Amino acid sequence: MRFIDLLLKKRNGDKLDPKEIEFLVREYVAGKIPDYQMSAFLMAIYFNSLDHEETAWLTESMAASGDTLDLSRIDGFKVDKHSSGGVGDTVSLILVPLVATTGLKIGKLSGRGLGHTGGTIDKLESIPGFQVDLSNEDFLSAIEKEGLSIMEHTEELVPADQKLYELRDLTGTVESLPLIISSIMSKKIACGPDGVVLDIKTGKGAFIKDLDRAVELARGCVDIGEEVGLNVSALITDMNQPLGRAVGNALEVEQAIKVLKGEAKGDLRKVTINLTAELLLQSPKAASLEEGLEIAEEKLSSGEALGKFRTMVENQGGNPEIIDDTNLLPRSEGKVEIGAPSSDYVTELDALEIGKAANILGAGRSKKGEEIDPAVGIELNKKLGEEVQNGEPIAWLHYNDRRQLEEAKHVVKDAFMFSESPLEKPSLIKKRLR
Ligand code: URA
Repeated sequence: MRFIDLLLKKRNGDKLDPKEIEFLVREYVAGKIPDYQMSAFLMAIYFNSLDHEETAWLTESMAASGDTLDLSRIDGFKVDKHSSGGVGDTVSLILVPLVATTGLKIGKLSGRGLGHTGGTIDKLESIPGFQVDLSNEDFLSAIEKEGLSIMEHTEELVPADQKLYELRDLTGTVESLPLIISSIMSKKIACGPDGVVLDIKTGKGAFIKDLDRAVELARGCVDIGEEVGLNVSALITDMNQPLGRAVGNALEVEQAIKVLKGEAKGDLRKVTINLTAELLLQSPKAASLEEGLEIAEEKLSSGEALGKFRTMVENQGGNPEIIDDTNLLPRSEGKVEIGAPSSDYVTELDALEIGKAANILGAGRSKKGEEIDPAVGIELNKKLGEEVQNGEPIAWLHYNDRRQLEEAKHVVKDAFMFSESPLEKPSLIKKRLR
């Protein structure tokens, strides 16, 4: 078999067979297909797509491209969660401990932020001492003993996704639906849980801006899960504006702690509760979605989830005192306020622009491996639909380097739009799929 023939086939819009897909994944991971040829192949997929069968074969070949996790020694119902990527999306830091309090077991492999979206691993690393590079043994034993752990994706697990994702990012092919489906689902399959919930974002700050395409993405993931015997449900959630009120690593940890303490209500909390309820419904713990919602609400309000978060931080070497005193998290040297230009309602708060502004301040990276600043970011005082008075703060920028501040300020100001009358807020949870 020659890769060039497969490339020509896809360029011409023909269907590949499972052996051909298995060949190209294996050879690429082994370094036998150069990036320039794979780049052309990804672009051919971007324009000619893959049908459902081809996407499923690609997913399975990718899932089998490296090590897999064996969760069989862990008792109980094991679950996982994945987000398609957002801004101010700190759900995992709240959901993982919350899920563990319900008796479900959750081991989550997470990634770093790339592009304008944040990453759970960068956020956790802003907690002094917190270890994200655990051995498989330490990861499994934490799930066994405490019911939860979050660690960084290892290079051995689904290496095909790691190599392809990086190349997609550099070749403008991230947004292809079959490539996103295979990327997400190969990682979930290789981790071997019993149930998975997906948070598929749609709107200005999401990779998939359009609701119909987000539904198509979710449907593809749920169907592939079913075909391999994995229980998958998905929520399509709004990413027109940032989910929480903080964007930036230590700021988002602080925000998660506020939700766990019951000090912050709002969209971030609501999405977390709903995703948790989906997992409970998949398991024997809840007979209906309402029951799942009630359990999640109770475990969060009672402070039990905060206790589990503390256990996870301690267990992974982090300083648990940050929970009682969030000033022990990395703090920026400077903080500037942006005031409202008029007395009006917020009618737009562009998540993509806020994500970009946080990156300009140093919270994210524009290419893999770049250093980030855990302390910087943006705190939003006003969100969509809220009323503002002229001069009242709409956001605060936390910065360490003045050179980026002016540009970030402009981007944040331009991300907001105001009007005399409130616009209808986009619905937060747009669809559920199972
Ligand atoms: N998240 C993933 O894991 N993969 C993608 O391709 C996009 C979002």
